[in-house]
Amino acid sequence: MTVMGDPTALGRFGDYGGRFVPESLVPACAEVEAAFREAWADDGFRKDLDDLLTVYAGRPTPVTPARRLSAELGLTLLLKREDLAHTGSHKINNVLGQALLARRMGKRRLLAETGAGQHGVAAATAAALLGLECVVFMGERDIERQAPNVRRMRMLGATVVPVGSGSRTLKDATNEAMRRWVADTAEAYYCIGSVMGPHPYPWMVRQFQRVIGDEARTQVDRVPDVVVACVGGGSNAAGTFAGFADTGARLVGVEAAGGAAITDGAPGVLHGHRSMVLQDAHGQITEAESIAAGLDYPGIGPEHAHLAAIGRAHYACAGDAEVVEAVHRLARTEGIIPALESAHALAWILRSAGDLAGQTVLMTLSGRGDKDMEMFNDLP
Ligand SMILES: Cc1ncc(COP(=O)(O)O)c(C=O)c1O
Repeated sequence: MTVMGDPTALGRFGDYGGRFVPESLVPACAEVEAAFREAWADDGFRKDLDDLLTVYAGRPTPVTPARRLSAELGLTLLLKREDLAHTGSHKINNVLGQALLARRMGKRRLLAETGAGQHGVAAATAAALLGLECVVFMGERDIERQAPNVRRMRMLGATVVPVGSGSRTLKDATNEAMRRWVADTAEAYYCIGSVMGPHPYPWMVRQFQRVIGDEARTQVDRVPDVVVACVGGGSNAAGTFAGFADTGARLVGVEAAGGAAITDGAPGVLHGHRSMVLQDAHGQITEAESIAAGLDYPGIGPEHAHLAAIGRAHYACAGDAEVVEAVHRLARTEGIIPALESAHALAWILRSAGDLAGQTVLMTLSGRGDKDMEMFNDLP
């Protein structure tokens, strides 16, 4: 298997991935897989998606040299600007692909989970555009801390369902969305927001997100020394890495310190796939804890677990305080307010600047920070 090529027929990336779902969901997953394989091989589908990415979502997004910050750090920092995509993050790339697929499959309704609300907003947006219903599951804690995105989803016509179980965050929203899907597979399409879930989702979402890395590859003068992205489930990182997996670039994914599945986790099954997962000695999933709702998740996409296992990518983590500092630093030096999620990648770069001296670093700036402004009011 080439690095970041197709998974096995069972949806495996090395020891990770697969389809661990209740019997009642197996046909629904098989239906999605067959539809995706057919659509991805169909020039008409690819053209429809490319057109939407261009004339609707605003692609290609630019690569911006961060000149003042680069000078301060003694390296060359390039930012792949997913914050400039319509709806404010990379999530729209994947959602437009899946929403087109859902319509092609004759489904009427999109179901989605969301943490930071960016995937929920993207799903609500695509549903409005294509005339589909949209139901978004969101943890009650995330509804509080990402309120502007909740208002956006409702304005776009989506129903936001608060989830009060567990830590009331992304993991619990995903549980609830999967539960609803089991009961509604005939009419509903489950639009997963990251490279996680049962096969074919981790592979399909990476293919929809690889536009980030493929574009960036054509936009840089030469292959960067290091390619960095934040990792929640890992979709912006997987999409970015896919464009550089066959180069000599060092690939670095940065998780939240309180949700560091590669650093602190062990192999296990969560949300339909096998990957690295935070768990206790009895295999019970433990709660993540991060300031960034989109990274507040105890697992990671299976392809990342595989890339870590084979040593092709490395995974670090960043803590809340240095992440907040990174948001302020980018705002003051470059006039760009990043999402708290994206700022994890920057926090790692700031901390590692000494080792990166003289190198070219490409960082995916996965989203903009507008959604976090109310939280910054509470911060020192
Ligand atoms: C701006 C932004 N970046 C990153 C993420 C994390 O998702 P992923 O790891 O799938 O890119 C999120 C999730 O909500 C997000 O909103």
